[in-house]
Amino acid sequence: GTLITLILGTALGLLLISSALSELRHMIATCQRITEGRMDQRVHLPQRSDEVGQLAQAFNKMVERLEASFSAQRRFVASAAHELRTPLTALRGSLEVLMRGAQDDPATVAHLCHGMYREVLRLSKLCEELLDLAKLEISENVQKEKVVLKEFVNEFEEQARVLSQEREISIFEGPSVSLKADPNMLKQILFDLLQNAIQHTGRNDRIALGWKLGDNGVDIWVEDNGHGILAEDLPHIFEPFYQGKKVSECGEHHKGSGLGLTLVKAMVEAHGGSIEVRSEVNRGTTFLIKLPFE
Ligand SMILES: Nc1ncnc2c1ncn2[C@@H]1O[C@H](COP(=O)(O)OP(=O)(O)OP(=O)(O)O)[C@@H](O)[C@H]1O
Ligand SMILES: [Mg+2]
Repeated sequence: GTLITLILGTALGLLLISSALSELRHMIATCQRITEGRMDQRVHLPQRSDEVGQLAQAFNKMVERLEASFSAQRRFVASAAHELRTPLTALRGSLEVLMRGAQDDPATVAHLCHGMYREVLRLSKLCEELLDLAKLEISENVQKEKVVLKEFVNEFEEQARVLSQEREISIFEGPSVSLKADPNMLKQILFDLLQNAIQHTGRNDRIALGWKLGDNGVDIWVEDNGHGILAEDLPHIFEPFYQGKKVSECGEHHKGSGLGLTLVKAMVEAHGGSIEVRSEVNRGTTFLIKLPFE
């Protein structure tokens, strides 16, 4: 009796071990295929809900995230190259016209130089933004210090007035609070949001900025009653190089790169914060930045 139980037990154990081993072998083979660059490979163990099954699921989730992040990187590089090529093509065209003899006509030269200068500015801006984005991947670049919000916004308002020319910006002062933040980044965040607001409003529209206490920090908002963002654009505006389809003619045409909000979001997140947007066509747009105190 004992002998039979022993034999049966051993046989069952061996069976279990060999089945677990075959699953492990399946996982190893999948790992090897992924290492060879086939990121679409997954482990299939639908019948297992125990630890081995959980390991397979965790593994698949990890590969999924890696695959998504690789393909986002590829898209980013492709878009960046495309954005760089556009001004370069324009520059090349103008230079070719100049070299073919247009330099003898002062009016043509002036016109071409003007255009070339604009394209060079565009290239510089793009390079700056790409560098900023790369720097943000390294968190040591966030240099936090104590920022007294009221003082900061007052100082910012003076500089913003220069940027916005004759456009009025209403400031709504919130509670006197201070937070730990990188003042240069905070300034750039607000500048970018204001610049967008200015670009997407008409002369008589309203632009406002203010702050209030949030859940665990400060909520800073930038609001305009300009032409708003199309519902189809809204989920994409923080993506690199994404530019909305133009809704109306009130904002003057401008050729940005579509990196502005990508940078804003990256800077906010480098502070441990988050950004939200609400927008309605023909009613306006509100950006809400949630920053923690520390
Ligand atoms: N206040 C706003 N009102 C209406 N649309 C906006 C507003 N802010 C952003 N958008 C939309 O979101 C898009 C993305 O904004 P983002 O700042 O990233 O790029 P951009 O302003 O087009 O270019 P860049 O900032 O690089 O010069 C814009 O193209 C625009 O369609
Ligand atoms: Mg912008």
